Amino acid sequence: MCGIFGCIVKDGNAAPVIHAALKRLEYRGYDSVGEATLHESSLHIKKDQGKIDEVHKIHNLDDLPGNIGIGHTRWATHGAPLQVNAHPHLDCDGQIAIVHNGIIENFSELKQELENLGHVFKSKTDTEVIVHLIEHVWKTKPSLSLADAVLEAVKRLEGSYAIAVISPKEPNKIVCARYESPLVVGVNENAVYCASDIPAFLPLTNKAVIINDGELVILSPQGYEIRKIADSSLVTREPKILDWTPEMAVKQGYPHFMLKEIHEQPATLRNTLRLQEHYLDLMTTFLDRAHEVFLVACGTSYHACLAASYMFSKLAFLATYPIIASEFMEQHGKSVNIDSTILAVSQSGETADTLAAVNCARQRAATILGLTNVIGSTLTRISRVYIGQQSGPEIGVAATKTFTSQLSVLSQLALRLAKKRGKISQDEMDFLAEKMENLPDVVDEIIQTQEEKVKQIAKKYKDAKTFFFLGRGISTATAYEGRLKLMEIAYVPAIAFPAGESKHGPISLIEPGFPVVFICPKDDTHKTLIGNIMEMKARGASIIAIMEEGDEEIKKLADDYVEIPKGVPEVLSPIPYIIPLQLLAYYMAIERGHNPDTPRNLAKSVTVK
Ligand code: F6R
Repeated sequence: MCGIFGCIVKDGNAAPVIHAALKRLEYRGYDSVGEATLHESSLHIKKDQGKIDEVHKIHNLDDLPGNIGIGHTRWATHGAPLQVNAHPHLDCDGQIAIVHNGIIENFSELKQELENLGHVFKSKTDTEVIVHLIEHVWKTKPSLSLADAVLEAVKRLEGSYAIAVISPKEPNKIVCARYESPLVVGVNENAVYCASDIPAFLPLTNKAVIINDGELVILSPQGYEIRKIADSSLVTREPKILDWTPEMAVKQGYPHFMLKEIHEQPATLRNTLRLQEHYLDLMTTFLDRAHEVFLVACGTSYHACLAASYMFSKLAFLATYPIIASEFMEQHGKSVNIDSTILAVSQSGETADTLAAVNCARQRAATILGLTNVIGSTLTRISRVYIGQQSGPEIGVAATKTFTSQLSVLSQLALRLAKKRGKISQDEMDFLAEKMENLPDVVDEIIQTQEEKVKQIAKKYKDAKTFFFLGRGISTATAYEGRLKLMEIAYVPAIAFPAGESKHGPISLIEPGFPVVFICPKDDTHKTLIGNIMEMKARGASIIAIMEEGDEEIKKLADDYVEIPKGVPEVLSPIPYIIPLQLLAYYMAIERGHNPDTPRNLAKSVTVK
């Protein structure tokens, strides 16, 4: 995700300090970079698309004048990675500059309102509305300080933000504010810093102040002042002394990126619920008109498609065909035509097999829809409509947070399509929408309460030679994904299939102690699944159940179990039920002495066929 940084230095220029800090934020992933400084009553700005070194080569990021400034690494969410969309953004008069990390949900409404008031927007970003909103507040009430204008403006925002704002009208200040995007302040005798992340200033100071949601901070040469956004009251908070190494700081104290990204899922799921309505509506319209819909992807993204095929069928009564991208041309290359719609799902948007399938379908005049995590990727350029899933960059090779975000977007689409087609009552719609809103908390609870249990299960089964992963209905997709995670990260051969298939062959592998993971939400498949568990148990298998909290029937049959909070609707169940399986793969890898972040022979983005 985007990185923000700001500093006020007592001696020397801010620009080289900002440049170096942005380099330290590179690991967060980005596509554009920019800086703004204050000097002699004016703002000085440089920004462009591209990597920091490339932008520096063209523009020289170090020669901006002044001892106060802000900087940004942008990871596109609204608007392509172009110079005009890079931060900092300015108000109409060029008197206020802002950098922002987060997603403003109500930016379309605010933009409309501000345009009606005469504001002129230059970029396609959601961020630009914030700076115009501050301008509007400040012009309406000129007696306010910059901090008060920011405080009033952010009260209008819905969504997430960490911002840093400067203005030549108050040349000795940086005003920052935070809601659901990280913000930290660093201090030493020579300077004060604000940043998205501690690594940005760690080589400069180990004294950090964590800023909480709903707080605003005013940085000045004297230090920092924290206020609550709600009532402007002062907050007293002393800096903490950090003993992190730079490597620990980058992983925010987690031993591996994979674990960090598993833990990020409550936050990434919240972001995925902040998609712009009009993109969802547009894609829903295309899906509604389609004669046949292929869901095309590879690996984990394919498992999201498999789950989605159940969602579209159960909610919207739409039959869709999940296809592994590398098979698409062989299987459907001749039949795909102008009436076909391809929804390609790819975290990176660059997977060669997925793009090849899409290109084959395009040549035959099919409609291409895309779901990806990387705005500006090839998939976004060749799709008629695309949605950015808003998970933020994923550094661990194994897909974890991006899988649950894909599921979240696909379930939102299925729900909208159900509504559009009149297949769902208002009550059901409201019920599912509320359950979806609640999922980030459910996932959080699973991580908080079940992680230790999964760790113990991994210890117990660490030497197992093979695993089975079984589920019925939509949980088949969860089983496939659980198996892929375990194989790729812990190098344990594993087999997954719909539980009903076991007696058609695979059950012959079972012998005493063979670990079989059952995914058993309390849905329509529950009764039949119990029969499948008994078949396995009768042959001596060790049953590991991922089950609903308090499910006594399953508990009696299971050797080990992990509990998922009650009340998750069937169509949403893959989102919480995959969490213990991601953790299982992670802890099995640790038990077996492998680095989960860099599994052998694998690359994050597979750009060869
Ligand atoms: C597994 C994993 C891969 C990817 C696959 C598709 O953890 O990450 O299976 O899911 O290579 O990648 P994208 O989604 O980028 O097309």
